[in-house]
Amino acid sequence: MEKWAAPPPLAVAIAVAAIVVAGVVAGHCGGRIPTTLDGPFEPVTSPLDGAGFRGLAVDLPDLDPRVRRWAVGFEPEQISVSLSSTEDSVWISWVTGDSQIGQCIKPLDPTSVASVVRYGRLRRPLIHKAVGYSLVYNQLYPFEGLRNYTSGIIHHVRLTDLYLTNGTGTDCYHCTFKKTTPIHESYQTRWDDWARFMEPLISEVPIMVVEGNHEIEEQVGSKIFEAYSSRFAFPSYESGSFSTFYYSYNAGGIHFIMLGAYTSYNRTGEQYKWLERDLANVDRTVTPWLIATWHPPWYSTYRSHYKEAECMRVEMEELLYFHGVDIVFSGHVHAYERSNRVYNYTLDPCGPVYITIGDGGNRENMATSHADDPGNCPEPLSTHDKHLGGFCATNFISGPAAGKFCWTHQPDYSAYRESSFGHGILEVINDTHALWTWHRNQDVYNSAGDMIYIVRQPNECPLKPISLRPKAIDSLTSL
Ligand SMILES: [Fe+2]
Repeated sequence: MEKWAAPPPLAVAIAVAAIVVAGVVAGHCGGRIPTTLDGPFEPVTSPLDGAGFRGLAVDLPDLDPRVRRWAVGFEPEQISVSLSSTEDSVWISWVTGDSQIGQCIKPLDPTSVASVVRYGRLRRPLIHKAVGYSLVYNQLYPFEGLRNYTSGIIHHVRLTDLYLTNGTGTDCYHCTFKKTTPIHESYQTRWDDWARFMEPLISEVPIMVVEGNHEIEEQVGSKIFEAYSSRFAFPSYESGSFSTFYYSYNAGGIHFIMLGAYTSYNRTGEQYKWLERDLANVDRTVTPWLIATWHPPWYSTYRSHYKEAECMRVEMEELLYFHGVDIVFSGHVHAYERSNRVYNYTLDPCGPVYITIGDGGNRENMATSHADDPGNCPEPLSTHDKHLGGFCATNFISGPAAGKFCWTHQPDYSAYRESSFGHGILEVINDTHALWTWHRNQDVYNSAGDMIYIVRQPNECPLKPISLRPKAIDSLTSL
């Protein structure tokens, strides 16, 4: 690919939450914008917006021009930008060649097309050249009636470094079918459709992703997360994780930590050990903000996925709290919610603000009911998700949540919740103030659904010594 690439823009997109790092405060109509210093806030539930309610997202048809393949031959398409671990390096990803789908597929040779990016600060001349690696992946369905898939050639090039890997296969694949109902997200051409649809944005604004349950996509041989791990570029080597499931990077005064909820998070596991190392190396004079992201929320009050990720919280919350994580973004629950600062279900001025922003739109419909609504509390055993590696619903036996698997009213840790599809923007003003704005999609940008300054207090909330951490809990089930 010969493509000019601009210097890394100061913008980062995480899943459905767009996080824009800028030095300008957005305009605000009405009264003073509240700050977290005004909190903790009395819990608020916004009623459903009857006029603008759009509870069900619908897939674009295959022939929609925004998802159709327009590239000819081996022209690059599905171009995207991702950040490396530091601001002076980016990954460029794209696809050449067409995917194949059917009972008999023959993967393309990934080495048949070079992975080259020429780039510079000026469009002419493009004085720099970077060479990366290419791969194809196959999705072989163990389900009767589904057609196998092999991707086009996926290229990943880091503009300031060079990696070369092999990934090839030329067999014609057949499968032994099971009579099992597949999960819908295993229809792989949707990935190509999505990448074409997103290209106008993510070829300009870097996208950073972390895995969720819809990316598991189990196939023959118990392979999982193949599309996820193949299609995106991750600063895994640069951040020392060597995993596509968890990694970190810096951008705009923020150290971002992306954590995997669907891989081992136990204190004896690789991810936890990496997280300890990564957190220990954060220089808050360079990146005063510390933001963590993973898929299933810890502090959500919606009935949907209620307390699913409790085992992960039990394992990792103290480590993140002790290192002064400022904000946590999660998805999974198809609605919006912002917490008060909280730690271990206790309001804490030094705890993170938890933001659930799984409201990007989903044909599984919106989450509208809360676990604290009368008669809505789920049976604890029913909240178990086998992919999340444990069942910890019985942990609510001490502290302020004692005996409260479900609360009888909106919990005090929940500051604001609203069932609407939307998206958010985080503007980092300086080392202590950031403006968080959540927009309902139906409002476009005419008004904000939620707006608050998140204020760090490094003097009032000094980092806690690691020696205070309690020992690992042995009773948790290993993933
Ligand atoms: Fe999910």
